[in-house]
Amino acid sequence: MKSIKITGMGRFLPEKVVTNDDLTRTMDTSDEWIRERTGIRERRVVEGTTATSDLAAAAIANACADAGIDPGQLDGIIVGTCSQDTLFPSTACWVQDKLQIRGMPAFDVMAGCSSFLYGLEVASHWLQGGKVKHIAVCGAEVFSKILNWDDRRTSVLFGDGAGAAIVTQGDGQSGLLSSNWGSDGTLASILVVPAGGTRLPASHATVDERAHTVVMEGSKVFKHAVTAMSTSLITAFADAGIAPDDIDLFIPHQANSRIMEATRERAKVPAEKVFSVLEKYGNISAASIPVAMCEAREQGLLRDGHTLAVTAFGTGLTWAAGVLRW
Ligand code: ACO
Repeated sequence: MKSIKITGMGRFLPEKVVTNDDLTRTMDTSDEWIRERTGIRERRVVEGTTATSDLAAAAIANACADAGIDPGQLDGIIVGTCSQDTLFPSTACWVQDKLQIRGMPAFDVMAGCSSFLYGLEVASHWLQGGKVKHIAVCGAEVFSKILNWDDRRTSVLFGDGAGAAIVTQGDGQSGLLSSNWGSDGTLASILVVPAGGTRLPASHATVDERAHTVVMEGSKVFKHAVTAMSTSLITAFADAGIAPDDIDLFIPHQANSRIMEATRERAKVPAEKVFSVLEKYGNISAASIPVAMCEAREQGLLRDGHTLAVTAFGTGLTWAAGVLRW
């Protein structure tokens, strides 16, 4: 077991709610179609100049308050995101600027919706070295600014938000009973923001073609998501020597209720163990698992000694899963 403990959790969701009915005013869609195909009813969306680092900084500050530490006491900041503030510097460095803290290493992990679990994996290895005490692992996204709002196949799916955990060295009772992570870059092209990097630099043409927004082959992503999430979760259960029945809570990445259900079925997790915030926030990518963990804990569903299973997939394609003793 990697002995770690999550001593604080925080989240930040923008106030503005956009319902499925709101979307029907600007595109050819319906509340019924979105709910039936995805399980989503509404999502949160930022306004004005709000950037991903604003949400991340607020979530990290809330997590620090929950852990009873000052943000300046952090030994490291990892922000998982694929809707970063700028190409560089990292969103994590913008977070330092927002929180007016300096010195500790700060960097982004870019693994799409798997980014929070990737960050947790990095933090757990980092903490094993014994020289650091508090690492902030955050998942934060402002997808509303990288969506093509004329594309009903993608724009109805995503939302904005951030969730963060303060991870410290464990006390021997808590930790990652098992975890695994992986990626398959041969599937990189099925979920992509094509322009703005060195492959296709920004130009008038890329703006005209809406190439700075999310392009997705939905059914391919769906198929690979179910396979990746269930396979890595089944591996995590086997490595932890634990049966799906024995966990207290299951938080899969919240992309689509049908993906969550198919993953749950394949991994044989009892339906009543699933915790979801998908209906009210949509797919908030890297933020979905920490926001759900935060809300589950607030509702008393995650307490000391509980066993939590998590699994995610994201652009890359990436995947990760773990079994955590709280
Ligand atoms: N409203 C109404 N109709 C729609 C909408 C909409 N919002 N979107 C698509 N349709 C139509 C299509 O045009 C199509 O019509 P047609 O048959 O006349 O051509 C019909 O609905 C069916 O479309 P499909 O794409 O086959 O619908 P499907 O059941 O596959 O659901 C969906 C689409 C929801 C996108 C699904 O494929 C999915 O969830 N895929 C996974 C997406 C995902 O999870 N992405 C997150 C990746 S994580 C990350 O790292 C960012």
